[in-house]
Formats: sequence, structure tokens, C-alpha cells
Amino acid sequence: MPITIEETLALSFTRLLPVKRRLGQTFYDRLFEQAPSLRRLFPESMALQQEAFFSTLCAIVREAGHPEGLRPRLLALGERHAAYGAEAEHFGLVGDTLLEALRETMPGGLSAVENAAWSEAIASVSETMIEGLEAERMRSSGPVRAARP
Ligand code: HEM
Repeated sequence: MPITIEETLALSFTRLLPVKRRLGQTFYDRLFEQAPSLRRLFPESMALQQEAFFSTLCAIVREAGHPEGLRPRLLALGERHAAYGAEAEHFGLVGDTLLEALRETMPGGLSAVENAAWSEAIASVSETMIEGLEAERMRSSGPVRAARP
């Protein structure tokens, strides 16, 4: 019987638990190798950041079946990213790097079905976060005034 995307994510996620530290390390190492200019946006010590990133992955997996529950939290997360200096165009690289780190660290490897499930979940999370990020940028740039004649 075919399993759903949510079940695929949940099953592959249990295999990640023992390697979560290595996943976080690999993800940020690859990210900063590919885009060294992003390093300055993050704190010097990355330990807490890796924990926070992993708990977001937990939330993505847990709530993949009912995205409406997760949406307000992802919008708020996207809004906070405005202050972190993140830009919409960074999300493609972050998503690709996360998939790469998953492929590299997943015990037993990432199957084609798992790769597709993660790719879809990451794309949908990124889309909602970007919505929050852009809404926050619009708010903080203030009301647009008509030019005086
Ligand atoms: C799938 C997309 C992403 C997820 C799930 C994610 C998740 C998180 C989480 C959970 C935090 C912890 C702080 C908080 O909860 O507010 C965080 C912080 C941060 N993220 Fe992201 N993020 C994503 C994409 C990005 C992108 C594209 C950038 C762009 C460079 C970025 C840069 C940062 C920075 C600079 C911090 C703050 C570090 C600090 O000052 O403590 N993130 N992210």
C-alpha cells in the first residue's frame, strides 16, 4: 500500500534522530562553503542555532499532514528572518543545501521517494516563510506616500 508524504517524512525523520548533530553541522558547513557571505549573519557559536533549526524540522514533519496549523508559526518565523538579514533569494540555496545534507547524513541513504517528500516539504515551508518575510519588509518600510506635486 503506498504511503503518504507525511508518513514518508515521519519514517525518515526517526532515522535522523541519532545523527541530528551531524546533520546540523553538515548543513551549515555546506551552506557557508557555498555562500561564505552568509556566515556574518549568524552568531559566532552555532550550537543553539543548530538546535533551533532541528526543532523546526521536527515541526515540519509533525505538522506536514495539517499545514494550516503550521502556517501562522512559519509566517512569524519568516517575519523574524527580516531582522536576521535573510532575503527571499537565499531560500533556494538554503533548501538545496538542506537536501544535500540530508542525502549525506541519512543513515541508509535517502530514497528517491524520501528525496521528493523532503523537497516538497522544504519548498512549501520556504514559500510561507518568504510570504512572512516580505510582509514584514513592506510593514517596516512604512506607508508608501504619494509624491508631492
Ligand atoms: C527552510 C527555511 C528556514 C528555516 C526552517 C529556518 C529556521 C530558523 C530558525 C528556527 C531560527 C532560530 C531563530 C528563530 O526561531 O527566530 C533561524 C534563525 C536564523 N536564520 Fe533561518 N531558517 C530558514 C531559512 C533561512 C534563510 C534562507 C536564511 C538566510 C540567510 C536564514 C538565516 C537565519 C539567521 C541569520 C538566523 C539568526 C541567527 C541568530 O542571530 O541567532 N534562515 N532560522
